[in-house]
Amino acid sequence: MNTKVLDANAPEAIDLAARLLAEGELVGFPTETVYGLGANALDPKAVLSIFAAKGRPADNPLIVHIWHQRQLEGLCEIPEGAEKLMRAFWPGPLTMLFSRTARIPNEVTAGLPTVAIRMPSMPCTQRLLRACGLPIAAPSANRSGRPSPTLASHVLEDMDGRVPLILDGGPCQVGLESTVLDLTHGQPTILRPGGITREMLERVTGTEVLLAGSILRPLQPNEQALSPGMRYRHYAPKGNVTLVEGPETAVLEALRNRCLEDRQAGRRSCVLCFTEHMDVLADCDPHDIGSRKDEAQVAHRLFDILRRLDQEGMETIYSEVVPPEGVGLAVMNRLGRAAAFRTLQVGNKEA
Ligand code: TXA
Ligand code: MG
Repeated sequence: MNTKVLDANAPEAIDLAARLLAEGELVGFPTETVYGLGANALDPKAVLSIFAAKGRPADNPLIVHIWHQRQLEGLCEIPEGAEKLMRAFWPGPLTMLFSRTARIPNEVTAGLPTVAIRMPSMPCTQRLLRACGLPIAAPSANRSGRPSPTLASHVLEDMDGRVPLILDGGPCQVGLESTVLDLTHGQPTILRPGGITREMLERVTGTEVLLAGSILRPLQPNEQALSPGMRYRHYAPKGNVTLVEGPETAVLEALRNRCLEDRQAGRRSCVLCFTEHMDVLADCDPHDIGSRKDEAQVAHRLFDILRRLDQEGMETIYSEVVPPEGVGLAVMNRLGRAAAFRTLQVGNKEA
């Protein structure tokens, strides 16, 4: 199959994408979070082809994308409290779980009684969803296990020859996947942190929003995954990533020592560090993850950097960490999983 890449802001490209989706084909498209790989959510065969193109396990359910709330009629039940969240955060990077009806195929939800719904905010995404008029099931447009794509070139890297069309809308603004919020089990619970933070949600719900246990640690052997996606190894570069945590001077020293020791042992190593530390770590092949004062910038850059590590053949990678608050929680969830939560604690915690 020949894969076309077209400008997402060209009306002809949107028309072609809408036609392909209506015919049961797959289309790669931008959103404000990451690029998605879309198919008609009401067509089980089209949905199955998403799993084939990604190499995704069949028991990991998909998010359904809409541009208008009225598309939900007959598909799911909107629980009390959800309306307020929709008004506050839709369109935007918030996915909510609702009880579903039989109109949503099992292929979308992996047989679960709930369906994940999101209304993306990027104007070209909205134009696409509107033009095709269908609810679109779309996971991130990466091959399973690879970092999510935040540029059309990332989608092409993973999906060339597997899909007829990729829409190029430039870099994704947020750069990490949407916040997934479960509203079907009593107290609202974040299953996956993202651009809409716990603090933002709590301000609207007026109640405590819980965090799923395995956001900042590995799932325990007997622990049930609230979200099937948490069971899988994700965002993992081929090299070994270690997070280094502690007071600034101790972290910088450890990053440097570890990286140079590995290099002496013949391993290809580098550090992921804040812009402010690029100079002091200049001899450690530093990769700039963004300013330490700007977690949103780190979120925006992270997946592109993780992808580059593989291209560069990195064997060991040492990374700085951000505080797990606000968008920093989403950053630490993705970085933690890239590192299989391997963390080196250095220096004196009190310092
Ligand atoms: O920002 C995003 O959410 C992107 C863009 C394309 O919209 N999509 C995305 O999809 O990240 P995906 O498939 O890569 O991640 C969906 C996550 C998975 O962890 C999946 O297990 C979880 O949502 N999920 C989907 N439906 C679910 C359900 N019914 N119950 C629990 N978890 C669900
Ligand atoms: Mg994904």
